[in-house]
Amino acid sequence: MKKIVVINKKLKNFKTNTIDINGDKSISIRFVILASLSKGKCIAQNILKSEDVLSVIKIIRKLGIKIKFKKNYCEVYGKGLGGYKFKKNLILNAGNSGTTARLICSALINSKHNIKITGDESLKKRDMYRIINPLTKFGLNFKSNNGKLPLTIKGSSFLQPIKYFEKLGSAQCKSAVMIASLFVPGKTQIKSLPSRNHTELMFQNVLKLPIKIKRGKNYDFIEIDGKKEFDAFNYKIPGDISSASFFIVLTLLSKNLKLKIRNINVNPSRIGVIKILNLMGAKIKLINKKTYNGENIADLKIISAKNLKSINLNPKLNSSAIDEFLLIFLVAGLSKGVSTFKNLGELNKKESKRLDWGFKILRMIGIKVSKEKNNGIKIWGNPQLELNKTYKIENYLKDHRIFMLSVVAALTLGGKWIIHDSDSFKTSFPSFLKNIKKLGGKIN
Ligand code: S3P
Repeated sequence: MKKIVVINKKLKNFKTNTIDINGDKSISIRFVILASLSKGKCIAQNILKSEDVLSVIKIIRKLGIKIKFKKNYCEVYGKGLGGYKFKKNLILNAGNSGTTARLICSALINSKHNIKITGDESLKKRDMYRIINPLTKFGLNFKSNNGKLPLTIKGSSFLQPIKYFEKLGSAQCKSAVMIASLFVPGKTQIKSLPSRNHTELMFQNVLKLPIKIKRGKNYDFIEIDGKKEFDAFNYKIPGDISSASFFIVLTLLSKNLKLKIRNINVNPSRIGVIKILNLMGAKIKLINKKTYNGENIADLKIISAKNLKSINLNPKLNSSAIDEFLLIFLVAGLSKGVSTFKNLGELNKKESKRLDWGFKILRMIGIKVSKEKNNGIKIWGNPQLELNKTYKIENYLKDHRIFMLSVVAALTLGGKWIIHDSDSFKTSFPSFLKNIKKLGGKIN
């Protein structure tokens, strides 16, 4: 049966002004993988229990690692760098999770048998050459379907450290190489365009590994001295800024509302969305700032915006807002002036072709928009926009962020929205609809 939600009422008042958001997805996935490679029992509080994280947990359990869920925390019983059990004919399914599919390949570096990695319809369309190429240089063997899943991977006992130049600004690629380097004696060196740095911070502050990090003008330089076991660790996972962003924009685009979102990871490599929206006239504030294991954490204070203005975005901010562009495009569509964005080719490599979808959704709601060269997009904002037609969102490969964007658009702009695949948000943000309802959103 098709799962559909219908929204035909704007959200005019919030029933509460404070919400909490589920744990960070990037950190949760990294916790599970790194904990499984540590020596002993690791505990995570506030781990994200979304489908993506459950996919990585299922995979790690299949590799012989015990993982237990308790009421308020999750335990992973790591067995060290050589601790996985590689059975014959193993098939590992990463579901919808690109991060899982890409990072888990590295942890299979010393498997003696072929292991098949597969995923759902969306994940099978995504490029795996970006990790196959560097991991092959370490000594891993791959067979793939033209760089796509399903792929077969076989480890090697002749591993050598590599020098790797990461040119996409992809934290998944950088992290895949970093995790592989853990198993390889000698110094692996990475030069990479800036991208989220949770793996670096965990290696340095939590696992206490020998890692050198230098920040250059345009690139980061990372050196890891591999083949060092590490002890078990605990982690209190903060809220996910990518999930919080849906509520930031919901508040911004509503009238005379305010919202506080507690305990959010505001790592500088993740807060592009806040910087960009503030440049466009929002007044998002970070309060109660603290640091934890090298990560920055804060509460966010948001008020409805009065005079949003367009932006000509410096592409240097792209990677720090990479998962938030659908929301940023929507805000640009409601801002005064013409906004331009460039070099966003990576958006079309996500769970769905998000650059194309941004274009399509803005057009559908009557915003003038054009595709520009170099994967750019130009948006003619209309601050007066009010919707009164029917809008249907379907066949979007169940991309969780398209579902949640559509809900935010429906609740702020009006009209009747019929949104298919209404369980897609569970991939990254299982409490999304609960939070919408808590604020007073009417969803049928
Ligand atoms: C992620 C990195 C980003 C992001 C994804 C999660 C991560 O992908 O889009 O949702 O956890 O490392 P890329 O690194 O491929 O840009």
